[in-house]
Amino acid sequence: MDLRFLNAEPTDAERHAVDALGAGSRDQLLPALHAVNDRVGWISQGALNHICRRLNVPPAEAYGVASFYALFSLKERPPRVVHVCTDLACRVNGAEAVTEAFDAAGIGWHRSPCLGVCERAPAALAFEAGDPAEGRLLAPATPSEITREPSTWEEAPVSVPQQGGPGLRLLRRVGVVEPESLDAYRAAGGYAALRNALLLGPAGVIREVTDSGLMGRGGAAFPTGRKWDAAARQPERTRYLVCNADESEPGTFKDRVLIEGDPFALVEAMTIAAFAIGAQKGYVYLRGEYPRALKTLRNAIDVARERGFLGENIMGRQGFSFDIEIRRGAGAYICGEETAIFNSIEGYRGEPRSKPPFPVEKGLFGKPTVVNNVETLVNIPLILTEGCEAYRRIGTERSTGPKLFCLSGNVRRPGVYEVPFGTTLGELLELAGGVPEGRELRAVLLGGAAGGFVRPDETTLPLTMEDARAAGATLGSGVVLALDDQADLGGFLVRIAAFFRDESCGQCVPCRIGTVRQEEALHRIVGGRKLGTGGDDLALLREVGQVMRDSSICGLGQTAWNAIESAIDRLGALEERS
Ligand SMILES: Cc1cc2nc3c(=O)[nH]c(=O)nc-3n(C[C@H](O)[C@H](O)[C@H](O)COP(=O)(O)O)c2cc1C
Ligand code: SF4
Repeated sequence: MDLRFLNAEPTDAERHAVDALGAGSRDQLLPALHAVNDRVGWISQGALNHICRRLNVPPAEAYGVASFYALFSLKERPPRVVHVCTDLACRVNGAEAVTEAFDAAGIGWHRSPCLGVCERAPAALAFEAGDPAEGRLLAPATPSEITREPSTWEEAPVSVPQQGGPGLRLLRRVGVVEPESLDAYRAAGGYAALRNALLLGPAGVIREVTDSGLMGRGGAAFPTGRKWDAAARQPERTRYLVCNADESEPGTFKDRVLIEGDPFALVEAMTIAAFAIGAQKGYVYLRGEYPRALKTLRNAIDVARERGFLGENIMGRQGFSFDIEIRRGAGAYICGEETAIFNSIEGYRGEPRSKPPFPVEKGLFGKPTVVNNVETLVNIPLILTEGCEAYRRIGTERSTGPKLFCLSGNVRRPGVYEVPFGTTLGELLELAGGVPEGRELRAVLLGGAAGGFVRPDETTLPLTMEDARAAGATLGSGVVLALDDQADLGGFLVRIAAFFRDESCGQCVPCRIGTVRQEEALHRIVGGRKLGTGGDDLALLREVGQVMRDSSICGLGQTAWNAIESAIDRLGALEERS
């Protein structure tokens, strides 16, 4: 790739795909790349040239962006691409047998990181380029079924084992109320919260949210009210709201279930957030591997706009204007980091920015921006209808409200579960039916690949932010992945290390090099190929892990050693091999 334009022209199909986006600026780069990749299945030199000319982006920079994302190809490939998840939950549920069946049938496939359908593992996702492009999921993907034509693959139903049960709040409409229908949403209590918000006024809404004690559910547990207040106080009047629906932490699928099952709740919640902080525009940054969530959310936004719940003078409130745009990610875990999202939306490589300045001061397009996770936002209508006092009575004093957990791995009833904070890990595993008959629990991965392991004798742990912290664990994004006594723990750890090596954006040295060294050392230990005397590789792992934790720019590098460290220290995982 060159700084100059090479001599290549787009085909008609490529040209039309890009031109259909209308007039453009740099922030249309990701949508333009998607448009071509969707239409023909890959991005040719001619297509890239056309995008660069239309958006006024230097060719080398466009190449740098296009090559950053795993879902784009700059080499010619067939219109149909099948992604097979071989990540954590799929791995313990037979993903390798699926890949072997594809090979035996002579069907090409790509190894994929977690596809976010862990409750139905193992999963395969087929993208078919065309007009329109199609994305189809097969989950669970059994070796006997995967050879079926992808157009016959079934859309997996929303998977909530507690569906329709008493006491549900966040999940009460999921699987019960038609997700396509605004009327059904309103009949089930929808938009009462926005009405209350308009009566309270922006400062009143922020007070309610602050007093509710709501903390972010995206992993960092930052108090939501404080974040909103900081943004609302900025002198700059142009402000943005970004809903983080990138959900790429292995083992996490709650945000997908919320969007697929109750999309209007997210639209209403974002509208309330925008009213509170004074944002006129919101983005949902949605994982590129969630075709069904994309369809459901697109419909909800369009219907809300048609009916006056988005756009100008919302619900008759003069001067209150807000609209939402969906931005599809394209297969990069790091784009879930809040400042990487900004770069991705703006048309740059999805690399995290240094903080400060914090997003509430200088975020998207340099303007004050609030980034909130999907689940965090879906708590907002609840707070504004039940009131902050009632909300605070759910959970514990310091971890308030209901919490969603993603149960997967070796449990009998995997799925998204809603419980109040303070429920113990053992109680949650019990809800999911425990490990399969005749097996013993070996370990639980809590919080995802960036989280850590806990032992079977630690399942009395109350699931709260403060108890997890005191126990040296984290709830992270709500992952509870159970491993039984037959699980290949060594292979599991190597996979975690490979994930971080693959997903590091490469911007800072400790993470770029450290994740490679970590994976190499684990391969040696697990494969019995010692570097030197017994403890050498373990010592190397610790040293590299500590350097990554202390000196990486963002949370990816800072947490890349967490799960492996906890497996060594809590489970004694690699002792017998070192
Ligand atoms: C590597 C990395 C990936 C992340 N991925 C996500 C994600 O997919 N979804 C999410 O909500 N937060 C993710 N986060 C956390 C966000 O940076 C941010 O803290 C969060 O979206 C804020 O929303 P909240 O306050 O509502 O939790 C990620 C962080 C890091 C470091
Ligand atoms: S820590 Fe890793 S992912 Fe984060 S900025 Fe550095 S290289 Fe990129």
